[in-house]
Amino acid sequence: MSTACKDLVDPKQIKLDEIINKHKNENGPLIPILQGAQEVYGYLPAHVIKHISKGIRIPVARIYGVVTFYAQFRLTPVGRNLINICLGTACHVRGGAKVVETIEKELKIKDGATTEDGRFTLEVVACIGACGLAPVISINNEVHGRLSPDKIAGILAKYE
Ligand code: FES
Repeated sequence: MSTACKDLVDPKQIKLDEIINKHKNENGPLIPILQGAQEVYGYLPAHVIKHISKGIRIPVARIYGVVTFYAQFRLTPVGRNLINICLGTACHVRGGAKVVETIEKELKIKDGATTEDGRFTLEVVACIGACGLAPVISINNEVHGRLSPDKIAGILAKYE
């Protein structure tokens, strides 16, 4: 194979093949491979699922069954900014639901979705470990606490 040909290989694909090879002979290789693939691509595109299916000889339909069963896996790309809204106990009792409602309204998307312009992805999560600041959201792992609905628009405006 010529060097020029090698240059055309997608580095993500190389990483994916490494992940497949690392796990394929293990017991229950699918979950670690999917986790690794999602780390590389940010989500699980159809062509990646097909490639994994070939690599470990598990039917595509079965892989989709696993991917849709576990909340940790995504079939669509994440927006430029990932908002995690906490609905753990402390945040819930201090008005977390109102925060969710306000952000959903502001961005016109529901939990798990991405805005059309790819600016935000929204995810409701359990406790993010900042209960003292409840109700809390994090955007790209940056925590914003003691929220009230009137603060939301100002916070979102800081993220392009
Ligand atoms: S319950 Fe929300 S940060 Fe702990």
